[in-house]
Amino acid sequence: MSIVANDLADMATRAESEIAAAADEAALDALRVRYVGRREGEITKALKTLPSLPAAERPAFGAAANAARERIESALERRGGELRASALERDIAGAAADLTLPPRRVRVGRYHPISRTIREITRIFAGMGFEAVEGPEVEWDYYNFEALNIPPGHPARDKFSTLWVNAEGSMEVALAATGTGGRAVAEPSRRQPMLLRTHTSPMQIRVMEQRRPPVRVVVPGRCYRFEATDATHESVFFQYEGLAIDEQLSMADLKGVLYSFARQIFGSERKVRFRPDYFPFTEPSAEIAFDCFVCDGSGTTNAGRCATCGGSGWIEAAGCGMVHPEALRRVGYDPSQVQGFAFGGGVERLAMLLTGTPDIRLFHQNDLRYLESV
Ligand code: PHE
Repeated sequence: MSIVANDLADMATRAESEIAAAADEAALDALRVRYVGRREGEITKALKTLPSLPAAERPAFGAAANAARERIESALERRGGELRASALERDIAGAAADLTLPPRRVRVGRYHPISRTIREITRIFAGMGFEAVEGPEVEWDYYNFEALNIPPGHPARDKFSTLWVNAEGSMEVALAATGTGGRAVAEPSRRQPMLLRTHTSPMQIRVMEQRRPPVRVVVPGRCYRFEATDATHESVFFQYEGLAIDEQLSMADLKGVLYSFARQIFGSERKVRFRPDYFPFTEPSAEIAFDCFVCDGSGTTNAGRCATCGGSGWIEAAGCGMVHPEALRRVGYDPSQVQGFAFGGGVERLAMLLTGTPDIRLFHQNDLRYLESV
């Protein structure tokens, strides 16, 4: 090997130790420029002397220069890898050690007050033997009205401001799906309109069509009415329906079940009012109410007439009564063998009482500041 070639090898050795000692990426870059930079790098400068060498020495010199460049470049690459790895470790170690950073907020999900109330309602009725079931929100006129003794033109229809659905195309399919297990049941007329159910009472009929007594169900679910909203009314709201059919049920059982429910959900404080009412599908019928928690039943607050109960001092909680014999006959039950009671109430009314919410609209505005506070 010529002396010049030896010089190149020495230079590569020197470069290797400098590179191995480079403290950071900037120092490494400076060494890269100095040794293998394309214009002023040591290797480039050495190669520029090539033409002045004797022809016999040129191949060996060229080979030595290339070998030196390869050693330097692989040293650069190795050190570059080391520096990146330790920078990463430093970052990780630094982050783990910085206990002063505020933690990320963990948002834990929770039940909406309406869902909570439904769960509470179904839990209490489960304790009295009622199974929770659900039914369709888009309903036939037949189940929502006709089978409940509310034929077209009946004045009770005025109470239920109904949202109608134009479902011409889907009618036949849906009718075919309302199977009744071969029992004698009035067929819904094929020209029936559909609607958004105005109450959960259609499920009284649907459940009785599908089951034989004894029946005990509670049916929570969404209902719809075409109505202006105020502190206690929404056009989309929830009801819970109860239905019990057996051989020996009376009005006393109905009263006992609803009193027990009121006490379990509100404690013994709340006053309960039970008085006659009218529904086409129950006979006799009654209405149950609780005293208003805002004005404590007085009907007035400091601001004047109580907005929550409308000044009456009472919040109507549910309609109820003994299932009408006509409804029993319609589903193939024999009213001389079985009787039963039904009740239906607003879930939001109970949720308002339970959470002290003065306005039903607060439940549906999806304002987390409110929903997380109750
Ligand atoms: N469905 C009736 C309503 O919404 C309430 C009710 C249910 C009454 C069951 C009697 C029996 O007004």
